[in-house]
Amino acid sequence: MNQVFRMVCVGACAVGVGMIGGCGGGGDAEHGDAAPAPAAAAKPSFNAMAVKGALVYKKTCAACHGADAKGMPNNGPDLTDSAFVRDTNDADLLQYVIHGREVPGGVPMPPRGGFTEDVLPDADIEKVIAYLRNFPANKP
Ligand code: HEC
Repeated sequence: MNQVFRMVCVGACAVGVGMIGGCGGGGDAEHGDAAPAPAAAAKPSFNAMAVKGALVYKKTCAACHGADAKGMPNNGPDLTDSAFVRDTNDADLLQYVIHGREVPGGVPMPPRGGFTEDVLPDADIEKVIAYLRNFPANKP
């Protein structure tokens, strides 16, 4: 099916019939076909929420906690192996990230990592928590 469609599409475009949109569509359809996720099968513990959480993490936490979440000197600590994360349940951890932590004389953990609720809603923080839980040392 796909093969036939592509041939028709390529033919039409080659003749210059203005089927460019059609060709793009064909490409997308192929992409969709390729999607069934072998990667997900290889890493069953890395669930969909954690994957989304990894993206949110990179945008809102990585600047201080490091791209790999292993911490930055004089800034955010390692979040891949945190006794605090391990010993705090998801609901409390959500509250922690919402409110942050004052550190007298030190570097604070800013509320929501310094972002507003518009940029980092609670639902996104829950995804980040799923991402952090995925590190074996953070499992309760
Ligand atoms: C502006 C820098 C900054 C950003 C952005 C930031 N953090 Fe932090 N975070 C810190 C600092 C600094 C600490 C350590 C505070 C302390 O010493 O108690 C910390 C501590 C934490 C802790 C406690 C770790 C522990 O072992 O005590 C967690 C959990 C945490 N951050 C999660 C997050 C998450 C999730 C995000 C993204 C939504 C985020 N942080 C964004 C600076 C940051």
